Amino acid sequence: METYLPSSSRYVRCSYNRCGRSGLKLPMISLGLWHNFGDVDVFENGRSIVRYAFDQGITHFDLANNYGPSPGSAEENFGQILAKDLKPYRDELVISTKAGYWMWDGPYGEWGSRKYLISSLDQSLKRMGVDYVDIFYHHRPDPETPLEETMMALDHVVRQGKALYAGISNYSAEETAKAAKILKELGTPCLINQVKYSMFERWVEDGLLATAEEWGIGVIAFSPLAQGLLTDRYLQGIPEGSRASKSWGFLQPHQVEPALDKVRQLNEVAISRGQSLAQMALAWLLKDKRVTSVLVGASSVAQLANNLGALDNAGFTNDEIERIIAILNE
Ligand SMILES: NC(=O)c1ccc[n+]([C@@H]2O[C@H](COP(=O)([O-])OP(=O)(O)OC[C@H]3O[C@@H](n4cnc5c(N)ncnc54)[C@H](OP(=O)(O)O)[C@@H]3O)[C@@H](O)[C@H]2O)c1
Repeated sequence: METYLPSSSRYVRCSYNRCGRSGLKLPMISLGLWHNFGDVDVFENGRSIVRYAFDQGITHFDLANNYGPSPGSAEENFGQILAKDLKPYRDELVISTKAGYWMWDGPYGEWGSRKYLISSLDQSLKRMGVDYVDIFYHHRPDPETPLEETMMALDHVVRQGKALYAGISNYSAEETAKAAKILKELGTPCLINQVKYSMFERWVEDGLLATAEEWGIGVIAFSPLAQGLLTDRYLQGIPEGSRASKSWGFLQPHQVEPALDKVRQLNEVAISRGQSLAQMALAWLLKDKRVTSVLVGASSVAQLANNLGALDNAGFTNDEIERIIAILNE
């Protein structure tokens, strides 16, 4: 690939939302590297997606220690993309990583101990070849480790300068409030909660969004397209190369068929609005101002380009809202 020079108009396309009551702004659409960036994937494809994202003003790239497969390979590949293309623009990027799920053998390779979190972040920094990440998340609540210990580890890495902000992921409303209180007392406010939120997964509407607002915490929605279900990807069956077709994909083939009736109906609404279903599904989440950003995945530049189109038609009429809610509640 030729030497990368980012588009000079890269800050025209995206809008940026303040993350809770922090000083940090995030693009309304962020890019996640959970799938499509591992050592099972084509490196140059992932590289094109990241370059395109940055050209469009997507400044936020989300990783985790275990993304791949193999675990760690997405961070390694992202590190290569940084080294080849984006290193000069490090100060324009918000890079996040996480620890919480299984990463290495033995009692210190997962969950929420100080031992695990601090070692894992050190490993992530090496794999990506960076001195610090912008956001370091605890990836999932740990029912056994005292929450104080986990939050103290986040506070510690922020004070060390290995992370600029602390985040939590997959924390319920109640767990979020507890974590936020501890972090506030420690002097490192909780920046953000990364939660599963889409038209098909709406648990955050029952308290989590309100709690986040109360504590001044941003919310970033992961799998906002339900891993591709909320797009036209599966309308004609399961295509070769799609996430549901891959043995390592987290979307299982048996999850596709039961969703299709609603997907078809939603697709009709999207067509009547003159946009793709993916665009409508993203706009649907972004209409709630408590949602800082939607964190999409993409297996091609074309998909990401399509998703960015959500920003062009983000409003809903009352009639559309009623139609959509009726379909979702069926
Ligand atoms: N904190 C956590 O526990 C957690 C968990 C999961 C994810 N995440 C984060 O959230 C990010 C996004 O998750 P996700 O990948 O599940 O998000 P998603 O946006 O719901 O799904 C992305 C997939 O949908 C398909 N797609 C995307 N745009 C499309 C379009 N315009 N038309 C047709 N198909 C389209 C692609 O699938 P194909 O591959 O089939 O083309 C793509 O890989 C992850 O990368 C990760 O950073 C966090």
